[in-house]
Amino acid sequence: MSHDTPTRIDHLKELERRNSLAEEGGGAERRARQRDEGKLSARERIALLLDEGTFEELDKLVVHRSTAFGMQEKRISGDGFVTGYGRIDGRTTFVFAQDFTVFGGSLSETNAAKIVKLMDMAMRVGAPIIGLNDSGGARIQEGVVSLAGYADIFLRNTLASGVIPQISAILGPCAGGAVYSPAITDFTLMVNKTSYMFVTGPDVIRTVTHEEVSKEELGGATTHNEISGVAHFMAEDDAECLAMVRELLSFLPANNLEDPPRKVCSDAADRADASLDTLVPSESNQPYDIKDVITRIVDEGYFFEVHEHFARNIVVGFARMNGRPVGVVANQPAFLAGVLNIDASVKAARFVRFCDAFNIPLITLEDVPGFLPGTEQEYGGIIRHGAKLLYAYAEATVPKLTVITRKAYGGAYCVMSSKHLRTDFNFAWPTAEIAVMGAEGAVNIVYGRELERVVKEAEEQKGPLSEEEKTLILAEARAQKVEEFREQFANPYIAAEHGFVDAVIAPHDTRRRLISALEMLDTKRDKNPAKKHGNIPL
Ligand code: HXC
Repeated sequence: MSHDTPTRIDHLKELERRNSLAEEGGGAERRARQRDEGKLSARERIALLLDEGTFEELDKLVVHRSTAFGMQEKRISGDGFVTGYGRIDGRTTFVFAQDFTVFGGSLSETNAAKIVKLMDMAMRVGAPIIGLNDSGGARIQEGVVSLAGYADIFLRNTLASGVIPQISAILGPCAGGAVYSPAITDFTLMVNKTSYMFVTGPDVIRTVTHEEVSKEELGGATTHNEISGVAHFMAEDDAECLAMVRELLSFLPANNLEDPPRKVCSDAADRADASLDTLVPSESNQPYDIKDVITRIVDEGYFFEVHEHFARNIVVGFARMNGRPVGVVANQPAFLAGVLNIDASVKAARFVRFCDAFNIPLITLEDVPGFLPGTEQEYGGIIRHGAKLLYAYAEATVPKLTVITRKAYGGAYCVMSSKHLRTDFNFAWPTAEIAVMGAEGAVNIVYGRELERVVKEAEEQKGPLSEEEKTLILAEARAQKVEEFREQFANPYIAAEHGFVDAVIAPHDTRRRLISALEMLDTKRDKNPAKKHGNIPL
């Protein structure tokens, strides 16, 4: 007994020494620099992300194998990546965090193997994986071995896509080919001012194209949230970003075989909202904010918007209906009249596919004047990109519900989860206008010659007319035709007569009708034909 005790204590001391070396990372000076830049450390980030005290670290003692450039002298336990698992809202979640204080968080052969091990485990148990990125990219001293590590990760990102949720938080640099792992994952979050992503940095750009651009302008959080659409969320600091990840996960199932988690709901399922009856302006061209409709329909008025700053003419995000998570896609009349363009189509298509992959029912609110005309859109491939949204809705087998609040014109009528794309319930408000195109455009095409004749006949009857008189007569005749056209076509009743709209509903009743439909669809099972995979127009 007296012989055993000291030895046991020595073992524990050695373990403690090794663990604390790993926790030291790149040392006090580098940690202070990280802090001064407004960034948390890798371990602080994990602690904030996970439920308190639930983190279990793996591979804490892994070191790199490189001997080039004197690297054998510089081995740090963990090698700059902290990996492991813990819980978020009580549910198992896998996480890795790059530690910028160790070789700039760069990816070595061994820490790539740590990520691969983690991803394989996440796939085996069917739990989400979250990457906290803060890295200078491939470990320069390791060359191709590091590149191979990236490729191993990209493969797993792809295989895991649609099986477990994958989320990337960018909390520092993410440059070069390293950007492609976040790009394959489902959601990317960036922190304003401290994170950036680009394939080639400002220096290379200056050399190749002589273009001057700052890191922030090129690949900062604002750029990727507003312009490129690479990022889905923007946070003001690390803590807010990690809170957003937790919030996002609260809507998602752990894997594609589970349903999303339900919450107890204190908002009555049959709550009517009279303000919806007057929310849509009577003038067809007047804007209104579709988010006012969303928040009045969903549980407790809570809408967690995704891609808030990008392609604002379409709104996507998560909400709950009687406690059940749903994905909402809505045209936004308050921005570009809610028109569908390339960015909006791609944004919504990716969201629809995510929801479909993870059993999240889709609610579509439609008020769309059509696809944006113009050479910029045509040359940019609106045909191909618009087809993505059509394809995404058509292949989706989750419960699908649509409410047409106002315009459903032309091809956009077909695209926005129309009855014809296997949508389970298509509702329309009495204010709905379902037509091949807007009344003004339609009258110009259908009655163009007839309107010219009206002016001619007036001249025949009254003698020569001034230009002003002609314009007045033309305007009156056109206004009458527009009114006639509107009365005949711009309403939901013809579509309802055909059964393309299942019910015309009072706006105040929308929440109750949607919840009732969702509950009925709870056991929905639908399938696509067996195939290796479809060929979405990429
Ligand atoms: C090894 C690296 C490193 C890297 C940074 N460091 N990047 N070590 N490999 N890729 C080390 C630095 O030597 C330094 O070590 C420490 O990290 C901090 O770096 P600093 O340069 O001092 O930090 P900062 O000024 O904040 O600049 C950050 C940075 C810069 C912009 C990320 O370090 C940088 O440009 N790094 C290289 C980025 C790059 O080109 N990576 C390869 C991209 S291509 P000390 O010991 O001094 O603290 C790529 C291909 C992936 O990744 C392909 C996938 C298919």
